[in-house]
Amino acid sequence: MSKIKCYNQIAQVGLAQFSADYTLTDDIAEADGVLVRSASLHEVDIPDSVLAIARAGAGVNNIPLDKCAEKGIVVFNTPGANANGVKELVICGMLLAARDVAGGIEWVHAHKGEPDIGKTMEKAKKNYAGTEIQGKKLGVIGLGAIGVLVANAASSLGMEVYGYDPFLSVNAAWLLSRKIKHVEDLGELYADCDYITVHVPLTPETKGMVGADAFSRMKDGAVLLNFSRDALVDEDVLADALAEGKLHRYVTDFPTARTSEMDGVIALPHLGASTEESEDNCAVMAVRQLRDYIENGNVVNSVNYAGVTLGPRKGERLGIFHHNVKNIIAQIAGILGAEGVNIEGMSSKGSGDLAYTLMELGHSVSEEGAAKIAAIDGVFRLRVIR
Ligand code: MLT
Repeated sequence: MSKIKCYNQIAQVGLAQFSADYTLTDDIAEADGVLVRSASLHEVDIPDSVLAIARAGAGVNNIPLDKCAEKGIVVFNTPGANANGVKELVICGMLLAARDVAGGIEWVHAHKGEPDIGKTMEKAKKNYAGTEIQGKKLGVIGLGAIGVLVANAASSLGMEVYGYDPFLSVNAAWLLSRKIKHVEDLGELYADCDYITVHVPLTPETKGMVGADAFSRMKDGAVLLNFSRDALVDEDVLADALAEGKLHRYVTDFPTARTSEMDGVIALPHLGASTEESEDNCAVMAVRQLRDYIENGNVVNSVNYAGVTLGPRKGERLGIFHHNVKNIIAQIAGILGAEGVNIEGMSSKGSGDLAYTLMELGHSVSEEGAAKIAAIDGVFRLRVIR
């Protein structure tokens, strides 16, 4: 029986993917797997019993990725599962910035029930007027699952869309509309676009990436959208850009105490993935990936280990976490060979200093054999999956 600790409410349709061999636990100390949405695990003492953590969502800045990798704990996310939900809210964000929709709603609320509201609003409405997004230039920074959908949707609404992503995947390139113009120089994107939307993960490298240089290049009156993570934008520079009128609006799904008080900020309470569809998709994908790893040792969509899969398990498998150095696989093969155990399938990938090797065995390895493999210098976690 595998025990799963959920740190947030996870959609029922996802939890229903667990078989009778799984049970939920409230106690992390006895968990084999973890499901999490936005709760921070940075301060949690994650025990060695945990095999994997699945994040029902894309961003993983709430999980100590390196610490987990060093312990052989695989962390998964669910890329693309909530991309449509976020895309729809980004489009909504542009429309909220183009006209003062929120101000207009507030006006009606303040005058509700007044008999002559139909007349007075005709005078008031000029205060909430604005522009259309059709024909405007949109710059999309980061063309992952969400960025691609935003770019394509904005293009179909008549915007002129520019995309920047030095790490564009082949898959994303296939999905991107041919109308999207490829930009190699981020400075050009900042200088040319009326709307700029950021879709990159928050990492030490991307923290504060929309900073003084970016704001100094932006057009006067530009709109910046951040539906990714608060710390991507330098708040000091943002405050100045809004105060000087350089930036027309900052639309964000990640307000902080400071940005929530700034004039010119349209802030939403992290609603991007809060749709029934996104929550269901993320939960189903997270649970399936967790099960595939626990039952088969397959690693798909991990953010701290490279992908390794041998498909459905036929017999016994070894999942070996080791340092990414020479001669380890030869030693494992030697131990198995001495026991007459054939390696029927193998997949091994390194990422940085660490590596994961998955082996399908012809028949079971003995306890002594497994102990010898676990004791190889450089091996730090061994799973015998049967
Ligand atoms: C994400 O990173 O995909 C979102 O933050 C998901 C969520 O709202 O939980």
